[in-house]
Amino acid sequence: MKYTAPPYTYDVLPFPPVKEAWLHTARWRYVENVFREVCRKYGYREIRTPILEQTELFTRSIGEATDIVSKEMFTFTDRGDRSLTLKPEGTAPVVRACIERKLFAEHPLLKLYYIGQNFRYERGQRGRYRQHQQLGVEVFGAVDPALDAEVILLAMDFYRELGVIDQELHINSVGTPESRVTFKQALKDYARPFLAELSGEGQGRFEMNPLRMLDTKNENDLRLLADAPRLVDFLDPESAEHFEKLQSYLTSAGVPYVVDHRLVRGFDYYTKTAFEIVGNSLGSQNALGGGGRYDGLVDECGGGHVPGIGFGLGMERCLITLDALGIDLPTADERPLAFIITLGDENLVRPIAVKLLTKLRAAGISCDMDYKSRKFGHQAKRADDLGARFTLILGDEEAQRGVIQLRDQSSKEQREIAIDLAAAELVLFSHG
Ligand code: HAM
Repeated sequence: MKYTAPPYTYDVLPFPPVKEAWLHTARWRYVENVFREVCRKYGYREIRTPILEQTELFTRSIGEATDIVSKEMFTFTDRGDRSLTLKPEGTAPVVRACIERKLFAEHPLLKLYYIGQNFRYERGQRGRYRQHQQLGVEVFGAVDPALDAEVILLAMDFYRELGVIDQELHINSVGTPESRVTFKQALKDYARPFLAELSGEGQGRFEMNPLRMLDTKNENDLRLLADAPRLVDFLDPESAEHFEKLQSYLTSAGVPYVVDHRLVRGFDYYTKTAFEIVGNSLGSQNALGGGGRYDGLVDECGGGHVPGIGFGLGMERCLITLDALGIDLPTADERPLAFIITLGDENLVRPIAVKLLTKLRAAGISCDMDYKSRKFGHQAKRADDLGARFTLILGDEEAQRGVIQLRDQSSKEQREIAIDLAAAELVLFSHG
């Protein structure tokens, strides 16, 4: 029996394949740290929710007719006969947690961020996986369009910190559920005469979720829908003003954007602002991230009237973009500073080596020794393979005198030092 990872999942490794640098754990950690740091600057605090939730939380909030709920969820019945679902996205779980833990009552303006895994049964391809990680934020408690601008600026700041420069910000307003009813009708009236010419997907969406007709990559559908009615022309006055103000804030912050009339997003919970950050190095899966406002979602989930806005950025797509742009991240050095090599009488030298290793590590020095071979050549090769900066060579004679040979692996210089002083000597190099 040969085991493989489930379809369209991947392993993130300390030693990634040469052509897939994005699968390097060190790069993941670096990007996550940049995100945490940007969130700290903007005053967001971290929330962690379970990896699974009651299925109904998602069916109700995301919407029965969406692709995610209708065909992509990993749903199962647990041994207690409950229907549970691996989370396909991060917003609904955060809303559930805030209601359950009564955070809205104590924090009239609540700014949260998360880094989490999501699961969608999708047809995989580069940039689209069945398990993916999102870097997300959610803010609750205000409808001020300056807050929409802040959330967008945070996302843009994150990419700027990483040196990603080939992205475009697309924005739109999806109005209120009421204004959408009129718009959906207008859209259907427009498409009805050429319904038979639309792709199967387009025809399905015409019936199930007409707004999503606009979100197509099919060339023919795009041509047929080129002059379709636009959401902005159907907005209620409040949403229209909100959208105007958001644009003026983005302009005054110096962030270029494109008003994208076909941007509708794949969830039912959005109201007013919807946005996406589109990368140019990604091929067809080009949404680096997306989000929007959801002023009715908390109410829908039983938490009263609390407006919200947030986004999710795709970790894999971010890392793939960094690779494509040739951005070399300054990842932490994972090589050991010192590597202990022992020679001679094992009963004498090995206990001293183990004690020294413990002492060095306690002093914060990354160090190692060989557990597979006692031959000098093999131990030295292991030190080289790991990229150790120094080796510490301990033989019978050194052990008896309480000293050790400290060898600089690049200059090959070697000198004798007292074992008791090894930690003090090496600690000087450990942060440089
Ligand atoms: P979403 O647009 O479905 O939004 O996902 C956000 C981002 O996650 C996408 O733009 C993409 O970069 C990445 N992503 C989504 N699905 C996959 C996949 N199968 N493989 C790889 N990457 C993927 C949401 O999930 C909303 N919860 C965002 C949000 C937060 N809206 C408000 N608050």
